[in-house]
Amino acid sequence: MVLPVCAMAKEKTAPGLVFDASKGVAGSVSMPEGKIVNYTAYTNLYYVTNIEDATSQYLNVFVPEGADESTPIFMPNYVGGYMAAQPRSINPGDASGRALAEGYVVAIPGARGRNSVKISKKGKPIYVGRAPKGLLDLKAAVRYLRHFDPWMPGNAERIISDGTSAGGAMSALLGATENHRAYAPYLKEMGAADERDDIYAAVCFCPIIDLEHADMAYEWLYGCTNRVSRPLTDAQMKVSEELASRYASYLEGLKLRKPEDGSPLTDHNYKDYIKELLIKSAQAAKDFGADIPDTLGFTFSNSQTFAPPVNGRFMPPRESSPHRRMIPGNRQGEYITGLDLDRYLNYVVSTIPLKTPPAFDSNGVAGGEASGEYEEFGDETGGSIHFTDYSLRQATGNGEATIEAKTKELVMLMNPMSFHSDSGATVAEHWYIRHGARDRDTSFPVPINLAVKLQNEGKDVNFKLPWNRPHSGDYALNELFDWIKSIL
Ligand code: DHB
Repeated sequence: MVLPVCAMAKEKTAPGLVFDASKGVAGSVSMPEGKIVNYTAYTNLYYVTNIEDATSQYLNVFVPEGADESTPIFMPNYVGGYMAAQPRSINPGDASGRALAEGYVVAIPGARGRNSVKISKKGKPIYVGRAPKGLLDLKAAVRYLRHFDPWMPGNAERIISDGTSAGGAMSALLGATENHRAYAPYLKEMGAADERDDIYAAVCFCPIIDLEHADMAYEWLYGCTNRVSRPLTDAQMKVSEELASRYASYLEGLKLRKPEDGSPLTDHNYKDYIKELLIKSAQAAKDFGADIPDTLGFTFSNSQTFAPPVNGRFMPPRESSPHRRMIPGNRQGEYITGLDLDRYLNYVVSTIPLKTPPAFDSNGVAGGEASGEYEEFGDETGGSIHFTDYSLRQATGNGEATIEAKTKELVMLMNPMSFHSDSGATVAEHWYIRHGARDRDTSFPVPINLAVKLQNEGKDVNFKLPWNRPHSGDYALNELFDWIKSIL
């Protein structure tokens, strides 16, 4: 069925959205373990009518054999570095291939990004993908899937979005800003379908979010590495200390509660909570046979405390205990009992150097250069702008300067932390959030705050700092797809 008959999907200025179910093309993909998955592909489905970038504002949909109206839709995005992402084909090596092999419909939308350009009639570049355009495109893709749900295999009420890093941020934003009226005028102007844009679940690998607080969080956490394993100039040192000192009040303002027992999570006990999460991560890896070197800062139940804890306490065996003789030397015991966080953070830095302060809104501050985020908040002319008062003041030397209201609005639209308490939005029920235990692209409190806030709001959140993972995504796919099965 063609909807509506008057428009062709391929036309760049299509007057209406189109889905033609007769246009499916058969294909197949060979999975790494040899399984062949046959599918029908619907490609180049433009999800808005006012197309500004025909290379990215469409989606490709892959329907595996056996899928029907009730099949969940897995929707990965390939946004990275806040840059434009083209809609891809199925990749057997990543979550798209796995999802297809699991029998899910896979919808892969493209999205504009900070580098999206169209050329004006006068030959000048116009930047058409700056914030919040990439997010709007993904929302439009969700609306498209819902608009044509009756005619397309797959259930648009079961969309599971997936992304990594900036794409993880997009996935978090899709989940946290559903149906929010703040985005409605933009979506209308773009010619997105007039539909809801909520999703069922958000999978977020190392989401680079909360950009206006991420600089502070970074220095608050990694300050202990300054001039230990992180060389800094005097100017950078000063910026690091100033930013770090501003984070406590933000943390207090979040009014988070520990999901485990409901007790307040504040600046005073937050680092202990990070330790708990890291110990849990290392312990899980150790249980699976990983070697956790003694040098990273962990303490272990050693031969003297070999016995499992009794009432939560490790009981040192007496001199005459048989354990003493059974375990030679001072071998690591079964349990990780503590962590020297400063030592661990210096270890992380030794594996990959940190960003210099400020980590994100860096341009012109203590010798910093423009980051991707700085460009993300630029305008159509290609100009880029500061998105925090702190960096604006540092870069301009004007201690009174504040970012413009327009920028503030953009920053808010791009932060999943902005919206949870807003009555206009709904929030996805199911969340899978991962940030590697060795990932320093943003600091641990950033994803932790998101996970805890969602849990405090009663959402179903599966959160971990997976052991030894650097900045990366779409890993441990068995675990991910077991989780997906569990929520469906
Ligand atoms: C990405 C990585 C970053 O360090 C960052 O600041 C923004 C985006 C990314 O990989 O997408």
